Amino acid sequence: MASLNEKIVSLKKERKAVILAHNYCLPEVQDIADHVGDSLGLSLIASESDADIIVFCGVTFMAESAKILNPKKKVIAPEPYATCPMASMCTAEQIIDARKCYRGASVVGYVNSSASSKAEMDVCCTSSNAVGVVSSLKEKDIIFVPDMNLGAYVASQVPSKNMILWSGYCPIHQAITEQNISDLKEKYPNASVVAHPECRKDVLDMADMICSTEKMFNYVKTSDSKEFIMATEIGMRHRLSKECPDKKFYFIDHALCSVMKMTSLSSVVRALENIGPEVILDEDTMRRAEGPLRKMIEMK
Ligand code: 13P
Ligand code: SF4
Repeated sequence: MASLNEKIVSLKKERKAVILAHNYCLPEVQDIADHVGDSLGLSLIASESDADIIVFCGVTFMAESAKILNPKKKVIAPEPYATCPMASMCTAEQIIDARKCYRGASVVGYVNSSASSKAEMDVCCTSSNAVGVVSSLKEKDIIFVPDMNLGAYVASQVPSKNMILWSGYCPIHQAITEQNISDLKEKYPNASVVAHPECRKDVLDMADMICSTEKMFNYVKTSDSKEFIMATEIGMRHRLSKECPDKKFYFIDHALCSVMKMTSLSSVVRALENIGPEVILDEDTMRRAEGPLRKMIEMK
């Protein structure tokens, strides 16, 4: 009987599909993907893909972005209930109201948001390009949604802007504390600290490097350090250990994003067999959300 991996290989060929997976996905899912990366990298691949079907392993906002950038293609989210909790912390209506309070401000939205919220933004950003996106805008007042930690980090890097921060956050990164890092630092005093900008300020203040998941690989590979304390989600361990076998990585045990772990090999097989569940968004939302996403891509 064919293994799940074999089934995926043959179904993928049959369906002319490409499989994208985020860096936090389960190791076995990362291993069968055509591309593994961060939100920005995967959006770029999705926007340039010539495959008939895009299977997006990760969370739903990522699959939605792929659909918005490829409105004519079938985009499949193998686990349609794998929703990032931060994405529901800022609604389209709230953005419309915020604009009334801060007239003339530009709305910059983290891609960890719903398609309907994106439709109300001026430009999107990811953790990889947020500083660049904000600094390139002509407006001084910036409403930054929904991640308060990423917003505060951007504010610290672009002091010329008046950043109006939302109160959203990632529950996984928010739960990483200064104490967690100092405990690991005590055990591994020579380790460098690498943190995702979704972490709180007290954690970021302890970091040697603050960056998106994909940039973490470049940093670790080029760093002279041999040990790293990783203030991010534990799914990163898989690629880090594979690509840097001579280095050691220490994670915070509770930094686990359960929605990122929902997609399994079985769900990918089911998705390829059924060509679904397909991401379906209404035309108007897609058209309006495409502008802020494309603007971000053009700014890269
Ligand atoms: P990256 O774009 O850095 O991969 O981050 C996505 C995310 O959801 C982090 O929690
Ligand atoms: Fe959302 Fe946080 Fe999970 Fe990333 S790690 S998908 S921000 S809940």
